Amino acid sequence: MSATLSRISDRLEIITASQPANAATLAEDVRNGLLAQPKKLAPKYFYDELGSALFEAITRLPEYYLTRAETEILHELGWEIVRLVRSPIEIVELGSGSANKTRLLIEETLRVQNTLRYCPIDISADALRASATALVDAYPRLSVRAYAADYFSILGSRELQLHRPVLALLLGSNIGNYEPHVMQRLLGAIGASLRRGDGLLVGADLRKDRATLELAYNDPTGVTAAFNKNLLGRLNRELGANFDLRAFDHQVHYDEVRGVVESSLVSRTKQGIRIEKLALEVEFEAGEPLHTESSYKFTTEELSESAKTAGFSLARSWFDRRRYFSLNLFLRL
Ligand code: AVI
Repeated sequence: MSATLSRISDRLEIITASQPANAATLAEDVRNGLLAQPKKLAPKYFYDELGSALFEAITRLPEYYLTRAETEILHELGWEIVRLVRSPIEIVELGSGSANKTRLLIEETLRVQNTLRYCPIDISADALRASATALVDAYPRLSVRAYAADYFSILGSRELQLHRPVLALLLGSNIGNYEPHVMQRLLGAIGASLRRGDGLLVGADLRKDRATLELAYNDPTGVTAAFNKNLLGRLNRELGANFDLRAFDHQVHYDEVRGVVESSLVSRTKQGIRIEKLALEVEFEAGEPLHTESSYKFTTEELSESAKTAGFSLARSWFDRRRYFSLNLFLRL
């Protein structure tokens, strides 16, 4: 992986990875996804500027309990989590976003050690720079080495220099957006970058009743519908597509057997779509779904199995008061 390093101050460095040769682009993924049967688009493309703002709004919805439940656990039990890993630690976060919840763990860690190095990894370079700058300003004993890259390319590279015992973070149920075999590959890649005794804290949403889950992903205010449809808006803006966003409905379905909320955009009518930059025409039948996201829900037994397969042991799980959400400390064996 080739990368450029910007040293912003003596406490802030940003490493930007150049696109790995084998990384699929938006254009290639859209072509393949729209020609697949059933049609699909990858959820990582939700997060352009508008999509990231809509996701922030989702986290404030009363129906989307995940963020509040995870914050509740970090607030009340963050001190316990930090004390279960050998200190002094470094924190590595995969998919740090605004890093708001991480502040709670940073503060707890700085209670038990003098200095802390925090290494956030996020694909969105702008969000990363903004959150990293805010963190070094807020915490004088913190230094940040931030990576603007996708997790897989950084985890396998020499750029990720870790010196102390590590507490890696994979919060926000991000793990739930991967198909199970990819999730297992990601956990394996994290394990391969850690040493015996290092920790990986995984935020995972738990299986629960259909009504609560479907409401969390289909809120009456319509923010999640807008978040989903923005994917089509993004294709209009960036690839010259002519999707009429009003001609698609946001639909969610909880599959109880697999424990997954599936989100789609369903075409209201039979219609043809042109994507100018791909020189591509695709047909949608009336009622045809375009799959946009899987959000897996877990049991602690499933999490414990996944930990074991990836070379970790599930040391401890913490829950919010309603037992809707879990934080799970995996220790590298
Ligand atoms: C980021 N990710 C864990 C969210 C989820 O719950 O699957 C994305 C999201 N999709 C709809 N609402 C929120």
